[in-house]
Amino acid sequence: MHIELTEEHLMVQKAARDFAQTELLPGVIERDEHQKAPLEAWKKLGEMGFMGMMVDPKYGGAGMDTISYVLVMEELSKIDASCSVAVSVNNSLVCYGLEAYGNEEQKQKYLVDLASGKKLGAFCLSEPEAGSDATSQQTEAIDMGDHYLLNGTKNWITNGGNADTYLVVAQTDRAKGHRGINVFIVEKGWDGFIIGAKENKLGIRGSDTHTLMFQDVKVPKENRIGEDGFGFKFAMKTLSGGRIGIAAQALGIAAGAYELSLAYSKIRKAFGKEISQHQAIQFKLADMATEIEAARLLCYKAAWMKDNHLDYARASAMAKLFASETAMKTTVEAVQIHGGYGFVKEYHVERLMRDAKITQIYEGTSEVQRIVISRSVLSE
Ligand code: CAA
Repeated sequence: MHIELTEEHLMVQKAARDFAQTELLPGVIERDEHQKAPLEAWKKLGEMGFMGMMVDPKYGGAGMDTISYVLVMEELSKIDASCSVAVSVNNSLVCYGLEAYGNEEQKQKYLVDLASGKKLGAFCLSEPEAGSDATSQQTEAIDMGDHYLLNGTKNWITNGGNADTYLVVAQTDRAKGHRGINVFIVEKGWDGFIIGAKENKLGIRGSDTHTLMFQDVKVPKENRIGEDGFGFKFAMKTLSGGRIGIAAQALGIAAGAYELSLAYSKIRKAFGKEISQHQAIQFKLADMATEIEAARLLCYKAAWMKDNHLDYARASAMAKLFASETAMKTTVEAVQIHGGYGFVKEYHVERLMRDAKITQIYEGTSEVQRIVISRSVLSE
């Protein structure tokens, strides 16, 4: 592996950092409190090319590499993980999936608008009884000749209310198990597609998470992605890339909490000196810095492998596992370093701590990452 950030990488990183400071920081506490989505920010990020970063420019994307994507995700997530989760889902689950496995017609009809940020996408896999056990899909799409009839319920869908285009995973032939699963492109507003309740969440409260219901939704045949039965593999392959995005999100949450803690430790005095002069705090900062650096390198490695067309499923699972555990641990310590101030909203670290938790859950729990990693190491 050879990773050296180029001039272009540094420019992209700076653009994301400046954007986070000027556009996301003001209002982030209010959006969290009132569960308001950063709609304007998503629009502007689309104009900057950050909603379809890795997509070929001929399909409306920015044609950047996955390292750039990690840099952007880290910077945005330092300030607002509710904003960055939409960036991640749109880039790696929706745009990547369509570009890699959609046909030309699907790319022209859907990918161009999604990659250029004109439209927002959602990825609908989880169900009331199919989270980690993704093969147990209850949502069903019956082949009716020229269309499929889609019925079922999807849970905890990121961008559920604000998306325009939804990739929906459904069972088409139960007898075939995971080989009887397909993915369909569904548009908002189609008859029988109901956007249900918005979840009232612990963290990433500015991101809109909904239950979705499909009641006899007619999906044209041409909206199935790939060969019949490709849906489960589509989901697994797409999630492998998605996990790089969420790993980078977790990295950003951890790095954001660390940077706030470092700065605070130099101004807050206790027992006659800055708390940074107490070894109890120094050791915490040392652990935080070390674990964040390790998480960052795992993210870069997974991104580099993807950019070099190597099998990155294990690397992305490792990056997500380690970065999300680091995010949780680091943010808890950040609150501790801030003491009473850490427990109030104005200091940001309590929000980062709440936001960190979801990175251990979505796009595969930490336990799912351990399944992916252990299967890979045991098969060697
Ligand atoms: N790439 C390609 N193919 C893959 C693959 C990958 N990364 N992983 C598995 N497959 C293939 C296997 O080769 C196998 O194919 P064959 O039978 O043809 O050989 C098939 O898929 C089934 O694989 P498994 O037997 O490994 O499947 P499993 O039922 O044991 O499940 C699992 C494994 C890793 C637990 C998987 O179910 C999983 O990843 N679950 C978590 C799902 C998830 O991440 N959900 C998140 C929802 S999306 C989200 O959170 C978005 C958001 O809002 C932010």
